[in-house]
Amino acid sequence: MNVQIHDLEFEPMLPFAEIEKRTVEIGAALTQRYRDKTPVFVGVLNGCFMFMADLVKQVPIPCQIAFMKLSSYHGGLESTRSITEDYNLKVDIEGRDIILVEDIVDTGNTLRYLVDKLKLLKPASISVCALLYKPDAMEHDIPEMEYIGFEIANKFVVGYGLDYKEQGRNFKDIYQLVK
Ligand code: IMP
Ligand code: MG
Repeated sequence: MNVQIHDLEFEPMLPFAEIEKRTVEIGAALTQRYRDKTPVFVGVLNGCFMFMADLVKQVPIPCQIAFMKLSSYHGGLESTRSITEDYNLKVDIEGRDIILVEDIVDTGNTLRYLVDKLKLLKPASISVCALLYKPDAMEHDIPEMEYIGFEIANKFVVGYGLDYKEQGRNFKDIYQLVK
C-alpha cells in the first residue's frame, strides 16, 4: 500500500523480510572478518538507527558501538554540498578497526567527508557498511565501501530509518517516491 508523507506519495520498494535476509548475510561476513578483533561500529545518525540495531545483532563477537550525527539533506529531496556536524564521535578510535554504518550512499559526499575525517584519528582500519547505494548518483570513488545491502535506482526513498522532512523513519519497509 502506498503511503503519504507531507506533500508526497511513496510506493513499497523493499520489504523488511529482504532487508533482514541481506543483513544476516552481511553480518556473517563481518563476523568472519572481524572474529579476532574488537571492532567499533560507528553509526551515522539519524538514518542508521534501525539498520545498525539489526546489523549488530548478526555480529556476535566482542565489539563497541558509537555514533556520529551529520546532516546534508536538510529536509529536502536533493543532497546539499554543505555538511553540518551535529554530534561528534565520543570514542577514541586510534588503532581500532572501524565499521562505519550508513543508511544510504547517494552522491557519496557525506561518506567521503566521514572517511577522511575518521582517517585523521588514525584507526587501524575502516570499512563501510551501507544498507542502500545509488550508483547512478555517486560522485566519488570510495574503496572503503565494502559492504552494500542493495544497489537501488536514483530515486528518493523513505522508511527503515530514512526520512522525508523527518518523517517516515518508523516505517518497517522501504518506500520510493511515486513520480
Ligand atoms: P550523500 O552525501 O549525497 O551520499 O547523502 C547521504 C545522506 O543523505 C544519507 O546519509 C541520507 O541521510 C541522505 N539521503 C540520501 N538519499 C536519500 C534518500 O533517498 N532518502 C532519504 N535520505 C537520503
Ligand atoms: Mg544519513
